[in-house]
Amino acid sequence: MSDKTISLSVNGLSYTRTIEARMLLSDFLRQELGLTGTHVGCEHGVCGACTILLDGRSARSCLTLAVQAEDCEIETVEGQGEIDRLGRVQEAFRQHHGLQCGFCTPGFIMAITDLLRHHPLETDEQIREALSGNICRCTGYEHIVNAVRELASERGPLA
Ligand code: FES
Ligand code: FES
Repeated sequence: MSDKTISLSVNGLSYTRTIEARMLLSDFLRQELGLTGTHVGCEHGVCGACTILLDGRSARSCLTLAVQAEDCEIETVEGQGEIDRLGRVQEAFRQHHGLQCGFCTPGFIMAITDLLRHHPLETDEQIREALSGNICRCTGYEHIVNAVRELASERGPLA
């Protein structure tokens, strides 16, 4: 079994760890760093629960090897806010009741953060299309779409 030492940044903090070369980034975050806010659902790239930001763009951490994140900047839901100081996307979810069980929520928060930075979200159709990579079995999506609509309107059209 081959081990590899990697260094990377997670939520602005630097880490160096020696891990099995085959370790998934999702397992690295959860098991090596204790950042269990990144959830693991399907484990094969379908549900979006494990979404994190890798150098600013959303990525499935269940499909990414930790060694691929060498020298990268990772953002996880833990970096988005605190329980008494929610981030902007988290607050919109709270206000619009965008979650029920919460299992999918960290993935949505991270995917939406990327979407707000990089994609136009001017119509409900665009919002629904943009969210189609994340699955929620509780909410029916209406409240999530409402939250994203408000976030997008605050920011204005995003080119
Ligand atoms: S756990 Fe990664 S996409 Fe479902
Ligand atoms: S809130 Fe339960 S899966 Fe989305």
